[in-house]
Amino acid sequence: MSNLNSRLLVANWKSHKTLDEAKHWLRGLIAFLATESNQSDNKLPQIVLAPPYPFLLPLSEQLRGVTGVSLAVQDISPFPAGSYTGAVSVRNLEGLPITHAIVGHSERRRYFHETHQEIANKVDLLIEANITPIVCVDQTYIIAQAEAIPKRARSGCVVAYEPLESIGTGVSQEVAKVLPVVEEIRTHFGQVPVIYGGSVDEDNLDAYLLATNGVLVGGASLEIAEFSDLITKSIF
Ligand code: PGA
Repeated sequence: MSNLNSRLLVANWKSHKTLDEAKHWLRGLIAFLATESNQSDNKLPQIVLAPPYPFLLPLSEQLRGVTGVSLAVQDISPFPAGSYTGAVSVRNLEGLPITHAIVGHSERRRYFHETHQEIANKVDLLIEANITPIVCVDQTYIIAQAEAIPKRARSGCVVAYEPLESIGTGVSQEVAKVLPVVEEIRTHFGQVPVIYGGSVDEDNLDAYLLATNGVLVGGASLEIAEFSDLITKSIF
């Protein structure tokens, strides 16, 4: 489970990359981390990598023995194991070292028409399976999303504040506007880790890390050189 003391750096690859590209990226990350962890006092962030489903097994094998990096799924079925063609259930993840699951990403809400209730069902299934949900919210539906999730499950979530207008646009939200939203999220979810997502890059990362417990990175996570720079900036 995540706690408020560790900085979270989540890389969301969405539907990008081939398997070869994914492995190449991870080789780069492992080499980079080996250099960083030799510099004794470094407090690296907790890195969570969310690749497309088919890469989870090969990447988990590549990650064997590597500390500080874990895997997430980008989504999960709102149903338990059963006859739901095309859906990946929490049970399908058993045996894989998955620590987190992104749920309610605005792209899922927009293109796949997901509802607050479906997202709440995913949260329930994930908590039961001991996988930490990263629940994405825009400011306009924080309350509606929180209320759909039973109170006891809310406290087990990480919440990602993702302003719709900042996702993939290159226009990140001013930190001054993020701070009150972080408070609002904690009012409704409890004292959970809150991260920010939306056009995070090397130039704005510092500010978000001061205001939140970490970041969810899309575009700037795709090239390992750029992502390594984000890791360097997250060290404290
Ligand atoms: P972006 O994506 O960093 O490319 O804006 C963030 C996200 O989709 O969570």
